[in-house]
Amino acid sequence: MALDDKQIESKLKDARGLFPLLSEYTFLNCASRPPLGIPIRKRLDEFYDNMMHIAVDDIEALFAPIESSRQKLALLFGCQPAEIAITTNTSYGINLAAWGLGLKPGDTVLLIDIEFPANIYPFLKLKETGVNIKFVKSHNGQFDVSDIELALTPDVKLFSTSWVQFFNGARNDLEALGQLCSEREVFFSVDGIQGAGAIALNLSQTGVDLFSAGAEKWLLAPCGVGFTYLANRSDHLIKNHYAGWLGVDWGGVFTSLLDYTRKFKNGAARFEIGTYPYQEIWGFEAALDIILEIGIDNISHHNIKLLDLLIGYLKDSGSYRIVSPLEMARRSSILSFTCDNPEHVYKQLNDNRIVTSYREGAIRVSPHFYNNLDDIELLIEVLRKIENEGFR
Ligand SMILES: Cc1ncc(COP(=O)(O)O)c(C=O)c1O
Repeated sequence: MALDDKQIESKLKDARGLFPLLSEYTFLNCASRPPLGIPIRKRLDEFYDNMMHIAVDDIEALFAPIESSRQKLALLFGCQPAEIAITTNTSYGINLAAWGLGLKPGDTVLLIDIEFPANIYPFLKLKETGVNIKFVKSHNGQFDVSDIELALTPDVKLFSTSWVQFFNGARNDLEALGQLCSEREVFFSVDGIQGAGAIALNLSQTGVDLFSAGAEKWLLAPCGVGFTYLANRSDHLIKNHYAGWLGVDWGGVFTSLLDYTRKFKNGAARFEIGTYPYQEIWGFEAALDIILEIGIDNISHHNIKLLDLLIGYLKDSGSYRIVSPLEMARRSSILSFTCDNPEHVYKQLNDNRIVTSYREGAIRVSPHFYNNLDDIELLIEVLRKIENEGFR
């Protein structure tokens, strides 16, 4: 059920209380790493307390959050649980695309020239096998679907891009890109980390073949856990080039491990190859509960509203220049801006306990649902003061 602004604000007021860091800092840096929430910390403590005090090997309790996180991710991203692998980071899934597709010498991978390196190096390594890498040139920190259309020559077998660009928050149109890739029979891989947990996405309604995201940003989990979506229709295209004992279906029973005749799990879970980061997954499950409870539509609505206030100020200021796209379809929960001395501004903000990040010559502001309009007002107040002092 859609909520009005007032109802959303009251829900979010409670959620803010789950993040103690916000009483110490004006924290606007989720695109780097979020503050740790109390329910997440509780689950981590529970895990470690069990390790410290309980000797029973409770396999069911250990594994339950893995299946439950898979279900919750499927709910959040509009797909089937069998299409989700619980992984360790974004790079894991990108490597599945790079190496699992069985690219041959002469095949080409298409990339954009403004990607986070996690979405570049796995493909550069493929050059050693004779695969070509072709970069699309961005313009103003963005690219258009038409740029990709032009670049999709018949040798291109895989296209990989970010859903949301890390340094300016430019959001790419996954539906249009997915449609184009499926028409041209090109495998479409997406680095989803800067949008997952902040923006609504129904993966089944896109032509995305593989979507990989670490959960340590907008999904609020501790570092070391993430997920990869592999669309059912594309499952047969990705082969396991490495495999492990936990990619095999043991039915939750580990008493006869000398059985080497077991089949690999069906679906994306076959890529979960060895011991899981259990404690992180326990925390991840608690984080997913918070996001699902607030509702992803409410989260993105709120985050956009926060950034609207900042945009209004930056547009009027004579000194700051927004470097993020402002068309609604291109926006995300990241907004970046610059000025004549952005590094000075970044340091001044830090000195005022306002946490942002400095990326590619711009200040990146990335609020999440736990922020409120007062946080943005304070940011504006300090920016105005720095501007009045003349950037020295
Ligand atoms: C767009 C993007 N992709 C990937 C990553 C991190 O990759 P991984 O989760 O593999 O460490 C980041 C981290 O800042 C990022 O901004």
